[in-house]
Order: sequence, then structure tokens, then C-alpha cells
Amino acid sequence: MRAVVFTGAGGNEVVQLVERPEPVPGPEELLLRVDFAGLNPADLMQRDGRYPAPPGVPADIPGLEVAGTVVAHGERVYGLSVGDRVFGIVAGGGLAERVLLHERCAVRIPDALDDRAAAAVPEAFVAAHDALRGQARLCPGETVVIHGASGGVGTAAIQIGVLAGARVIAVVRSAEAATAVEQLGAEAVLDADFRDEVLRLTGGAGADVILELVGAPHFPANLEALAVQGRIVVVGVGAGTDIQTNLLLLMQRRATIRGTVLRGRPLEEKAVATRRFAREIVPALASGRVRPIIDSVFPAGDIVAALEHLASPGKRGKVLISFSPSAP
Ligand SMILES: NC(=O)c1ccc[n+]([C@@H]2O[C@H](COP(=O)([O-])OP(=O)(O)OC[C@H]3O[C@@H](n4cnc5c(N)ncnc54)[C@H](OP(=O)(O)O)[C@@H]3O)[C@@H](O)[C@H]2O)c1
Repeated sequence: MRAVVFTGAGGNEVVQLVERPEPVPGPEELLLRVDFAGLNPADLMQRDGRYPAPPGVPADIPGLEVAGTVVAHGERVYGLSVGDRVFGIVAGGGLAERVLLHERCAVRIPDALDDRAAAAVPEAFVAAHDALRGQARLCPGETVVIHGASGGVGTAAIQIGVLAGARVIAVVRSAEAATAVEQLGAEAVLDADFRDEVLRLTGGAGADVILELVGAPHFPANLEALAVQGRIVVVGVGAGTDIQTNLLLLMQRRATIRGTVLRGRPLEEKAVATRRFAREIVPALASGRVRPIIDSVFPAGDIVAALEHLASPGKRGKVLISFSPSAP
């Protein structure tokens, strides 16, 4: 099989597409044939040496998600068979033509999604759904602010917020991005003015939930734009990690700030997040009420260009690579 590998820590000089032996599924694992694979900012962090793979996954093949067709499975897989199309999150090894997925993290792909669309779903939709519905307990009628709203996780989060019956305010950095997020059902505000705009749009009450996909630069304004009993969930910190904050305001808001990662969780917790995603989001993907947003697809041989594009501003949704000679 062909796989993207990082030969060490560094820049794009450590990135290669190489031939590797196919992995062998463990007793409860599926082996998937993959045509399209989703890239994530965490892949860039792993390339740079800031986010090493956890034990149990290939140390040098990045990739946090998979969508494909089952070609083999272990002897204790009972619910899925060869030929089934499934997707899910993995802790590594996703940027390859053959990928292992634990059965408990596998969800059947609805027929409405082709392989390309399915590849753009798992990490963005499981992460956004887990953060908004699982961690923040977003409820119908509440207001949610989404930072980094035009990217992969952001475009999923907007749609999940709308599906949940919330009012969604999407924070973006350009007029073009504003138009894109409005088409998904959000009200758009510009990053530079977000605190004042959120307070204006909510009549001074503030947002019930803030999904932080960008990081430190939005603090302390996040706390100032938060409603009483509001919840901030920190999912991404690409723009910075360190904040100074007003604890008195935190107390007055009776606010919660929590952080979350998917990759480092034990299998049981990933399985719970997966089952919740399957119950609430997959039917909406099947009916077309929510849809994966794809920015671009690069041939796997152009992985360096794909990673460069992933790192650049101005994307709308997910960046994919394709192992299929006929794609994109
Ligand atoms: N905790 C977890 O389990 C988990 C899971 C998935 C993702 N994540 C993290 O979540 C974040 C978003 O992931 P993604 O896949 O959606 O990435 P993405 O597709 O690259 O999107 C990033 C978004 O953030 C915006 N952005 C970047 N830098 C910004 C800045 N300095 N100020 C304001 N906006 C900025 C981008 O807007 P422009 O186009 O204007 O640059 C874009 O809308 C990443 O940090 C990722 O690592 C975490």
C-alpha cells in the first residue's frame, strides 16, 4: 500500500509517499481500503514534532480519520463484514491506502455520501458534535459562537448547531468567508469585532456557548462575550496557547471553560463519542440536512502541496488527498 510518512520531525523535507506492507487487523479491528483521506492541522503538528503519535498506532504515518470499504477484519468483529462502507476516527495511520479502524469506532457510511464526501466527515463532525453537544450541552434556543468557523471543524459545527436548534454566530476573517458560513445557516461576524458584535446580536446577554477553534487571541474577549452560566470549549489553539484572564469575571458569569482532545482518549470514550455522532448526525448526513464541506482534493503524490494548502488561510472546509488515479 502507499502511505504518507514523516521520516523525522521538521518541515516538508520529512514528508514522503512510500510503499509499506498492509497492516494486519487485530481481533476487533477492521482493515479498510481507502480512496480519499482527510488532512488535519494536527498532521502538521505531528510533522513538526509537536504532536507525536500515541502508542498503538504507526509512529510515522499521520492521519486521524478514515472512510473506506472493509477488506478484512479480525475474528471478534461481529457487526460488520467485508464490503461494508464505514468511517470513523483513528489515533494515527489514516493517510494510507489501507487503514485499521476499531469496530467500536466504526459507523456505516450512509448511501447518500460517496467516498469523497465520506472522507470529509469523521474528524470534523465527531469533534464538533462531541464539543457542542457532549461537552457544552448546547440546547435548542441557545446561542453558540464558533471561532474559526470557515474551516473543517467550523463548517461542521455550524451545521450541528443549526441542527440542534441553536442560534449560530460564526466568526470569520473575510467577507468571502462570511458569505460561505451564512449559506450554512449562521450569522457571520468578523473576528476583529466579535465581542461587540456578539453582545449587539444578543441584546447584551452574550453567548451561551463559545466553541474555540483558534486559541488564545480570543481571550479575554471570549469571557466578556459569554452569557451567565455560559460554557467555553477549547478545541483548537493553533493561534496561541497562553492567556491571562479575569477570574472575577469568570465567577460573575458563573462560567465554565473546558478543553478537549479526541486523539488521546481511551477507546471506550472514543466509542461513546462515535455512537452519539452515529445517533444524532449520521441520519442528518443521510437526509442531506447536514453535509461535509470540501475545500479541495489533492492527489496523494502531491501531499506536500496539500499540507502547504492546509496551513494557509482562506480555506472553506476540509482538505483531502486522493489515492485513486481517476480522482479528484
Ligand atoms: N481537540 C480535538 O480533538 C480537535 C479535533 C479536530 C480539530 N482540532 C483543532 O481545531 C482547530 C480547527 O481545525 P480545522 O480542521 O477546522 O482547521 P482548518 O480547516 O485549518 O480551519 C481553521 C480555521 O481557523 C481560522 N483561523 C486560523 N488562524 C486564525 C487566527 N489567527 N485568527 C482567527 N481565525 C483563524 C481559519 O480562518 P482563515 O481561513 O481566515 O485562516 C479557519 O477558519 C485546529 O487547531 C485543530 O487542530 C482539535
